[in-house]
Amino acid sequence: MSRLTIEGGFPLKGTVQVSGAKNSVLPILAACIMLDGETVLTNVPYLNDVSIMVRMLSALGVRAEYYHHNKIKIWNKGKLRHMAPYDLVTSMRASFFVAGPLLAKTGLAKVPLPGGCSIGTRPVDIHLKGFEALGAKVSIEHGFVSMQADKLKGGPVPLGFPSVGATENLMMAASLAEGDTVIQNAAKEPEITDLANLLIQAGAKIEGVGTSTIHITGVKTLQGLASYPIIPDRIEAGTLIIAAALCDDEVRVEGVVPGHIESVLYKLKQCGVNFTVEENAVVVKPRKRNLTAVDIETAPYPGFPTDMQAQMMTLLTIAEGKSIIKEKIFENRFMHARELMRMGAKIKIDEHTATITGVKNLSGAEVKITDLRAGAALILAGLVAKGYTNVYGLHHLNRGYYQLDQKLKELGAKSFK
Ligand code: UD1
Repeated sequence: MSRLTIEGGFPLKGTVQVSGAKNSVLPILAACIMLDGETVLTNVPYLNDVSIMVRMLSALGVRAEYYHHNKIKIWNKGKLRHMAPYDLVTSMRASFFVAGPLLAKTGLAKVPLPGGCSIGTRPVDIHLKGFEALGAKVSIEHGFVSMQADKLKGGPVPLGFPSVGATENLMMAASLAEGDTVIQNAAKEPEITDLANLLIQAGAKIEGVGTSTIHITGVKTLQGLASYPIIPDRIEAGTLIIAAALCDDEVRVEGVVPGHIESVLYKLKQCGVNFTVEENAVVVKPRKRNLTAVDIETAPYPGFPTDMQAQMMTLLTIAEGKSIIKEKIFENRFMHARELMRMGAKIKIDEHTATITGVKNLSGAEVKITDLRAGAALILAGLVAKGYTNVYGLHHLNRGYYQLDQKLKELGAKSFK
């Protein structure tokens, strides 16, 4: 199994650049199924999950290729296939994003059920109810979801929960539906706004993005774009800021949209992290006081993101006092806690609540990554632990962080593969 060895205890210093947002580029690539002609996406992070989506587009008849490490060109000649391959959908849940675009563009989509993943069961019922509200016939047979509609028809689409993926899938589908759609109880994540901006530039009529009510007036066609830049990854930004906070020197994290990580910055300030915020950067400085416990509850945006929960837990393992983390989005997202305990952290888990009692030091150990953000949490722990930490299962990390170990090394971390 791939392994990273980290020698902990070295300060981080310097400037680091945040890459483009994984969670933006994945639905945006799916949206390119609906855009006629050519589109170029820039600031694309070179990640395994992005490669899976590129393969998915090719399997559906849309040519997509990296032609520079952070640019993807998409050629859509309009000859689409309806069936999404089983291996791609089951290896990445976000592949289900192709359902809405395929259905809207061709009237038919057959996509395997994505199934569970290590952080929970993650059904797609909200997506499917929404497609039905747009007039599609939905059936599930032999593990495939079939969706059919000669022409989708706009209407009210109330979501039972502000699901990020469902909001994106339905917003894409409604862009080419007949008439007006209102998505109620929509999610408000910045990645949804990024997707909406791409669609609007391509000719879609969308209003209210970033609020819980999104109005979409369907249009007949959407046109490819000469160049569309992906927003910076707010989760990578938060992860790098916590790395700097743990190692306690001066690090400038550049390419950040501070407004996208307000809830994270608020908790970090409460915890005692010393930083200043600039227009496109956060500068972490040496602490003026010891880190202290804070309580966190994950929530849909603009609440504290579940994708930052694991990294925050690492920081709290060495903060004085007792912190409580409540995970409200996913049912099984504390697997990193068990590994942090192997490094000396004091954590008690009671269903969806983790109680963390700060210790003076973590100590290096053998630990295993179980999912993407758990991986980031363990790398961060390795940076600050005494001695050597061997982190196994790096493939999880490569799904969503572009060269995280390399970026940390450039700041002064000691690690080798
Ligand atoms: C997206 C992000 C992921 C992030 C999550 C929550 C992408 C590619 N991934 O995932 O990194 O952790 O948002 O911020 O953007 N649910 C249902 N039925 C559905 C859909 C969702 O019950 O049809 C549940 C899920 O199981 C989960 C919760 O709703 O418990 C939130 O899921 P959702 O917001 O849909 O997350 P994703 O879009 O899968």
